[in-house]
Amino acid sequence: MFSFLKGSKSKSPQAVSLAAIESDWHCHILPGIDDGSQNEEQSLEMLHYYVQMGIKKIVATPHVRADFYKNTHETITAACQKVQKLIQSHNLPLVLEASAEYYADENFFELITHGQLLPIENQYILFELPMQNASLWGVKLAEMLQKKGYTPLLAHPERYRYWHNKPKEWSLWKNNGVCFQLNLLSLTGFYGAAERRAAEQLLEADYIDAVGTDAHGLRHLQKLSELTQNPLFENIQQLPLLNRLG
Ligand SMILES: [Fe+2]
Repeated sequence: MFSFLKGSKSKSPQAVSLAAIESDWHCHILPGIDDGSQNEEQSLEMLHYYVQMGIKKIVATPHVRADFYKNTHETITAACQKVQKLIQSHNLPLVLEASAEYYADENFFELITHGQLLPIENQYILFELPMQNASLWGVKLAEMLQKKGYTPLLAHPERYRYWHNKPKEWSLWKNNGVCFQLNLLSLTGFYGAAERRAAEQLLEADYIDAVGTDAHGLRHLQKLSELTQNPLFENIQQLPLLNRLG
């Protein structure tokens, strides 16, 4: 039995197997630098749970945005080193990579302009758009990334409600070479019924290039156990996802 579960009074459902998905390209596991894990203890809980799920590689993607979380190479690298030490000291079979989830704002513009980005696997830049209103900035920023040789990877396209029931909006981005990353939690209905439906539509349209947990803590990883109730979870495991190990 895993020692970190000893003493836990509530019996959690069994962890879902993400062994076929292999790596998580979206999570907030770095302690104390955004609204995800707040300390090393919480990061360690998540690490143990990743092992239970059969994940082999974690790409840490803390928020980088001008208003709340103005993280830099330095803050991300320092926090990443703490988690790397946890992995080593607990002898966990996990590979950790430092990246970021960039918010489409003026800070992102500056980082692209000055070549100060942390790509996933030296190629993909994970970015997110405003939740409330469509942003023309996003298109411009994606073009800038491509001109720099990166592949833009848009986080959770199913969560932008202003695109719901407007499939042309999705196809415009896809046709312009932007990859889409689905939040696995969307398939459980965690963000709402509309987000779940949008996630299913994106999968049915074959628009999904990668998936991530977007886990901000252990509670999100545990919630993934409900994935088995969605028939499309089977399909996802067959897809040639970018986040599968090469
Ligand atoms: Fe995120």
